[in-house]
Amino acid sequence: MNTSDLINRVPASATISMAQKARDYKAKGLDVISLTLGEPDFDTPEFIKTAAKKALDDGFTKYTPISGLVSFREAIVNKFKRDNNLDFTADQIVVSTGAKQTLANIVLCTTNKDDEVLLPAPYWVSYEGIAIMAGAKVVKVKTEIDNDFKISPEELSANLTEKTRLMIFSSPCNPTGSLYSKEELYALAEVIKEYPNLLVISDEIYEHINFTGEKHFSIGSIQSVKDQIVTVNGMAKGFAMTGWRIGYMGAPLWLAKACNKLQGQFTSGANAAAQKASEIALNAPLDESYKMRDSFLKRRGLFLELLGKIDGLKLNVPEGAFYVFPDVSAFFGKSFNEYKITCPTDIVNYLLDTVYVATVGGESFGDDNCVRLSYAASEEQLIDAAGRIKEALDKLV
Ligand SMILES: Cc1ncc(COP(=O)(O)O)c(C=O)c1O
Repeated sequence: MNTSDLINRVPASATISMAQKARDYKAKGLDVISLTLGEPDFDTPEFIKTAAKKALDDGFTKYTPISGLVSFREAIVNKFKRDNNLDFTADQIVVSTGAKQTLANIVLCTTNKDDEVLLPAPYWVSYEGIAIMAGAKVVKVKTEIDNDFKISPEELSANLTEKTRLMIFSSPCNPTGSLYSKEELYALAEVIKEYPNLLVISDEIYEHINFTGEKHFSIGSIQSVKDQIVTVNGMAKGFAMTGWRIGYMGAPLWLAKACNKLQGQFTSGANAAAQKASEIALNAPLDESYKMRDSFLKRRGLFLELLGKIDGLKLNVPEGAFYVFPDVSAFFGKSFNEYKITCPTDIVNYLLDTVYVATVGGESFGDDNCVRLSYAASEEQLIDAAGRIKEALDKLV
């Protein structure tokens, strides 16, 4: 039996397949350090787990409204106001089974075949997969490490057409850790407002992992474009709740209604107890999130210092999230034994096979020069990994 055209055109997630390869190596007894996954290595804060247990005891075991529990959506409305200066009503919020579902809902509800979806590259892998699934045409706009992988207003303007329906970006960014400043977002908004048919998905799931010392700024709070922005967020990264599968968005009402309709046919409301626990998390002070952020900041410093000692790696300083995205193109054309390096994935395979460090090639994020390393790992692992990477890369001639 054949699979559908839709599934045939969707690429498999490279991060998930690399993580699987690392697990296979581990299962063979090899001492693998995996720097592949976008997942905090902390456990969910205790008070959130307690809230989930209580939610079960209180009977949150049934279907919820498709868009989410009213009390949770109200907590999200308050969170958007408090943290992001965004004004929504509860009917503009849709809660989903992870931000990934939120993104899929939006893309499927807004794009028609051959509509253009603009992705500043590098971008998070699933943006491309979801857009392809929707039948849209992906337009990748390459950004440069020397500009901290950020798209300029001129580059944006040069790549928008009357057919551009969506632009999707994350700030802080997966895979680069880059973060757009308020001024940079204002400058982009000046371009966006010239294209009233353009909807921008601002993925802010790494909002709480921000090292700048400045409050996170949401592009949706800029009045001139606010009706063109849908703000996506979720519990996974800032609250160490990846497995709970709760994401959400604040959107123009027409889009919230459409996503509600779509989700009603696919999955219905997200997990009830997880919603209730997330509500408690959003209503609480952010102390636990800040503790995790501080720990990531310390690791970033350590990892950058160690990677900085490796000749040939070009690094910038990521301002958020928990990834570094070094340019490895200086190694292209070099080799060691049977390993010939011509692209990031060659480096990834070389590192995994020879020193058992698992990373992800930039290609799947739309970048042909870099490799993504997640530093959501212990300091001991980071020290060990950086030593192994240096040992391997120093052998390439
Ligand atoms: C930029 C970005 N957006 C969205 C997601 C998906 O988050 P969730 O686990 O809530 O589906 C991820 C997860 O890696 C991500 O990195």
